[in-house]
Amino acid sequence: MMIPNLGTERLILKPLCREDIDAIQQVFPQWEIVRWLDARVPWPYPEDGARSFIEQVVLPAAKAGTGWHWSIRRRADPAILIGEITLQDVPRNNRGFWIVPEWQRHGYAGEAADAVTQFWFEVLCKPVLHVPKAAANVASRRISERQGMRVIEVFKGQLVGGEYDFELWELLREVWLARRQ
Ligand SMILES: CC(C)(COP(=O)(O)OP(=O)(O)OC[C@H]1O[C@@H](n2cnc3c(N)ncnc32)[C@H](O)[C@@H]1OP(=O)(O)O)[C@@H](O)C(=O)NCCC(=O)NCCS
Repeated sequence: MMIPNLGTERLILKPLCREDIDAIQQVFPQWEIVRWLDARVPWPYPEDGARSFIEQVVLPAAKAGTGWHWSIRRRADPAILIGEITLQDVPRNNRGFWIVPEWQRHGYAGEAADAVTQFWFEVLCKPVLHVPKAAANVASRRISERQGMRVIEVFKGQLVGGEYDFELWELLREVWLARRQ
């Protein structure tokens, strides 16, 4: 299945592709973003980090049907990439996102999260969504809370920024569908 564009009131989500390499290389390597991301993100970010990510992670996953990566763009200025959002068929880790710091706190991540969560449950028809996150990541937790997710496990985890107390959040398909009625 080709990954579709997704639209929200204020955003366009476009499948990540090679044309996004330069934009990602330019905006992604910022401590405010990466400190909250999985310790496997290379840091300091190498000069070919975005190219490796797109060519070795994003495109193979899209081809295999195991990962769905979108750039986040405002309808008001769709040429500018302001973040990224991902779904993946990885146990206990199905969704991730980041927004460029200057565009944070506008509700964009929440809006994008709703669009891809709808895709996860209503297009891919997955039964459950799991996302791990640092308990200290208030913004990310708020997005899960607002979606009606619940914490099912706590544990220690490793991020680029160090070791954190983690929570595993869960959303069941029936809960998502019931809230949409
Ligand atoms: C997490 C992240 C994507 C949120 O992006 P965003 O577009 O600013 O999020 P939203 O504007 O949709 O805000 C979500 C909620 O968090 C709150 N929030 C946002 N930034 C916040 C902050 N720095 N401190 C406290 N609350 C914050 C918002 O007020 C909103 O709460 P509300 O629903 O009660 O209004 C962004 O902070 C980011 O890129 N962080 C670094 C990467 C990261 O943490 N990714 C997730 C890993 S689990």
